[in-house]
Amino acid sequence: MRALSGIQPSGTLHLGNYFAAMKQHIELQEEHECFYFIANYHSLTTIQDADRLRKLTYDVAIDYLTMGLDPAKVAIFRQSDIPEVTELTWLLATVTGKGLMERAHSFKDKTAKGMSVNMGLFCYPLLMAADILIYRSNIVPVGRDQVQHIEMTQDMAGYFNQTYKEVFVRPEPRLNDAPIVPGVDGQKMSKSYGNTIDLFGDPKAIRKRIMSIKTDSTPVEEPKNPINCNVFALLKLMASPDEVAEWKQRYRAGGMGYGDVKKRVHELYEERFGSQRDKRAALAARLDDVEDILREGARRARAVAAEVMADAREACGIVKAKD
Ligand code: TRP
Repeated sequence: MRALSGIQPSGTLHLGNYFAAMKQHIELQEEHECFYFIANYHSLTTIQDADRLRKLTYDVAIDYLTMGLDPAKVAIFRQSDIPEVTELTWLLATVTGKGLMERAHSFKDKTAKGMSVNMGLFCYPLLMAADILIYRSNIVPVGRDQVQHIEMTQDMAGYFNQTYKEVFVRPEPRLNDAPIVPGVDGQKMSKSYGNTIDLFGDPKAIRKRIMSIKTDSTPVEEPKNPINCNVFALLKLMASPDEVAEWKQRYRAGGMGYGDVKKRVHELYEERFGSQRDKRAALAARLDDVEDILREGARRARAVAAEVMADAREACGIVKAKD
């Protein structure tokens, strides 16, 4: 089974990215053949600053390697190093109705807010389908917000296969059971809400950020409800089940202040992420090695892409039939 996913290099990675996707990506390397790419073509729909895009692309690779992605097991690469992907995007465009594209949330949400939408954003699901289909991916580990795109990919694979012949494999989304990660203001943690806790943030700033997580104003001595508490939600993601059960009791018993839980969340953050700061800095100082890892990943991925693309070209008649 081949697992594939793409990560947009559109900002500093945070706890929301980690628990919604990255953690599962890294775990899957023990079970499946994994292809993970940094979706720099997708990011061009929103980031139009060359230096920034280049830096963010390396940052994603460095963050994944820091948190345990093993390049001996996984092919990690830049989307744009596989030019066949953009070629396949065109072929898929010619078998896909415009109506399907207009139903994509990614496009609808932005137009509903009155934002102007470039054609890259409109065609985003086509590029994403090409990303998935070109490696005959079986499973696509993603967050819930991406499921519609995978369903659209399944549709596009069907359109192409029915129009020509069976070239593409039907991919299935793989969701993890992680709940939505709240940001410091209690909304879903997201770069666009400015409420994130970054993975390798400056120690002082991170501490301040965690201590600023929004809670209700129940006085210290009174019992508190752990359900719906943003701090508890973060604790639950990082602490052992025994410890979580203990805190649950402390909430209910009263006499515990939110400051206490926040301090513990901060400790857990430092244990898991803070402790990796030096490793990350060492990797960031060896960009040539990171570049080599990305190129080797691309070499492995491109071997598959070239083969599938040859089948796709042949199926639709843009090159002569295979002898
Ligand atoms: N759209 C995905 C996101 O924003 C990123 C992505 C691009 C992707 N191509 C992909 C994810 C292919 C899975 C498979 O998170």
